[in-house]
Amino acid sequence: MSIAVVGLQWGDEGKGKVVDYLAKDFDVNARYQGGSNAGHTVRLADEQVIFHQIPCGVLNRNVIGVIGAGCVFDPQVFFDELENLKKIDPHIEKRIKISRFCHLIFPYHILIDKIREEKTKQKIGTTKKGIGVAYEDKYARVGMRMGDLFDRELFEKKLRMNISRKNLVLMEIYHAEPLAESEIYNKYMNYAERLKHMVVDDTRFLSEAMHDKKNIIFEGAQGALLDINFGTYPYVTSSHTITSGAGIGLGVPPCAIDDVIGVTKAYTTRVGQGPFPTEDNSEVGQQLRASGHEFGATTGRPRRCGPFDASIIRYTARINGVKKLFLTKLDVLSKLDTIKIAVRYSNAEEFDPFHADKLRPVYEKIPGFCKDISHMRNFDDLPANAKKYVTFIEHHTGLEVSYISVGAQREAVITK
Ligand code: GDP
Ligand code: IMO
Ligand code: MG
Repeated sequence: MSIAVVGLQWGDEGKGKVVDYLAKDFDVNARYQGGSNAGHTVRLADEQVIFHQIPCGVLNRNVIGVIGAGCVFDPQVFFDELENLKKIDPHIEKRIKISRFCHLIFPYHILIDKIREEKTKQKIGTTKKGIGVAYEDKYARVGMRMGDLFDRELFEKKLRMNISRKNLVLMEIYHAEPLAESEIYNKYMNYAERLKHMVVDDTRFLSEAMHDKKNIIFEGAQGALLDINFGTYPYVTSSHTITSGAGIGLGVPPCAIDDVIGVTKAYTTRVGQGPFPTEDNSEVGQQLRASGHEFGATTGRPRRCGPFDASIIRYTARINGVKKLFLTKLDVLSKLDTIKIAVRYSNAEEFDPFHADKLRPVYEKIPGFCKDISHMRNFDDLPANAKKYVTFIEHHTGLEVSYISVGAQREAVITK
């Protein structure tokens, strides 16, 4: 049995919480794309862990985490994260595997990402983690992969070529200081020593796991509207965030996914630039940000907030093959007297990522439930208006809400 967990909005839907919650019934948790731009939060009884590179189901001690070929990998972020996780489970390293095919992020990727965001007009509102620049190198076929770390001579040659090209760009185009090759070389050779026992052929590892009837949970980062093909381009990330990305990013066949769980907040948020049809800059949006603590888990930036947009979910559910919804942060709406939901657009048949800046949402209003629901664990216990809201979402998305999250903690879930 395998499932994919995918974000149906612009990221930060609560995938971390959902994967951690579901992973208790799985053997393998595989991340298929993205890198340290992700910030997946897991809230335990007395602490909070934010995952960037490592699959976030690994706090369940039955789970082996795989960082797939489709990911871009920043060794420094990885080791910082690993050290932190070792405080919870000193043996966690034994349960982490990293693809030999995944591309490495280097300091020049991060530097160029930062310069573009801060000093040029090419601003996307990225996380400045070097993600887009590393994927550019991958597709330009000059990138360096995890497997390259283990052939010193070849690594040095490739690094020299890359640094001389990047230094040219840094100096001639961005008027910045060049980077020193030897420092980077030594650092990455040191990483190589520390990484080598974790590096695997992920395609082989996963096909053996499937052959052995292991249960696999595929974890998407970001959200479908940040997908490089089907998101609100160019305000997207540089990878395939949709569920098909699991095939591309892990070398598993399309039939490897049995079920798809789409994660959506009970409202909508977005970080960075780009269109957002239901964005609410009034008091309501500010209230959502305050009650939902809507600040980026990776960058700390305030997230833009607004009502739930059913057309978005209809679109992203379609391109991801979503069968069930995991609705998160329902508790955050408990302070609203009236809840607005965008059910369609007045000027378009459906969500159109090409013209998302022109879409005019049509709202319906339903009365709020005005009650703390964060301690509730049964659907029947929810206030009538909260149930009505869930049913309303089901009606307008055409999907069943199978799980409802009512708090950040692991156990704050209602199974419907
Ligand atoms: P991800 O990137 O999709 O994993 O989401 P993030 O971790 O970036 O953001 C989700 C935030 O909401 C985190 O701070 C979570 O701890 C928190 N969270 C998740 N589910 C719930 C929920 O049902 N209620 C509340 N109040 N917070 C939640
Ligand atoms: P998780 O996995 C929300 C956004 C950035 C920016 C755009 C491109 O936590 O949901 P990038 O650094 O990827 O080149 O930035 O994508 N972005 C995210 N927004 N959650 C994320 O990840 C994101 N990862 C990237 O804000 O708009
Ligand atoms: Mg996040």
